[in-house]
Amino acid sequence: MARLEIHNLSVGVGSRRILSDIELSIGEGRVFVLFGPNGSGKSTLLKAIMGISGYDILSGEIIFEDRVINGLSVDERARLGISMMFQHPPGVRGVKLSQVARILCEDEEKINKYVQLLNLGYLFDRDLNVDFSGGEMKRVELLQIILMQPKLILLDEPESGVDIENISIMGRVLDEYLRESGASCFVITHTGYIIEYIEATDGCLMLDGNLYCVGNPHKLFETIRDYGYEKCKECTVRHAE
Ligand SMILES: Nc1ncnc2c1ncn2[C@@H]1O[C@H](COP(=O)(O)OP(=O)(O)OP(=O)(O)O)[C@@H](O)[C@H]1O
Ligand SMILES: [Mg+2]
Repeated sequence: MARLEIHNLSVGVGSRRILSDIELSIGEGRVFVLFGPNGSGKSTLLKAIMGISGYDILSGEIIFEDRVINGLSVDERARLGISMMFQHPPGVRGVKLSQVARILCEDEEKINKYVQLLNLGYLFDRDLNVDFSGGEMKRVELLQIILMQPKLILLDEPESGVDIENISIMGRVLDEYLRESGASCFVITHTGYIIEYIEATDGCLMLDGNLYCVGNPHKLFETIRDYGYEKCKECTVRHAE
């Protein structure tokens, strides 16, 4: 069985169904890229995998390493090895980045290595995410993920708001971690920048809460760039007919 298996998953927020009958499988060491227009349900899928409250599973199963995790809390899922980068992480006044880093990892050498690599030394003694810039928050999110040594990394638009130089730093750090650990990665991207650094193995497209076109991520990205999501919608309608 693959590291993450999703069968027949439907997810609702309040009284509204956002995702319908999702089938997905992500193997060990695979880097799975998710494309799709605004509001199509991409972040909702990541949040349902992580177990964020308010995203209710209406039907189906999320299976991580042979175990159904539908009913587990966020921290239980994190302890199993699932870690998520948020699109908009909250600020935590009174808690320094250095304190969080030392809770996540006892190896001071490792903390120092990644703080240097991600150029975060100057933020180390500041309150977590309080008045951090958009790009700083993303680098700090990546630091926390790597210190937790997850087996499955969920990245929600990791490059959004990050300048080109820092995207390449993040991409290289992530690529090194994925290669060394054999972790799997599920990444949402609009720009495709991040897949220039990590070796994307699979891709798929989300439209209106459904997944389409599972296959080569580079080809899929090219097609989306050439034709746009509107054409993708026409194409899936034709398939459906
Ligand atoms: N907590 C919530 N309460 C109400 N509606 C929500 C909530 N979370 C998501 N939605 C709705 O679900 C739909 C899908 O949202 P989602 O954030 O998953 O989209 P997305 O594909 O990640 O879009 P984007 O590319 O803009 O990030 C949207 O219409 C959104 O307004
Ligand atoms: Mg989103």
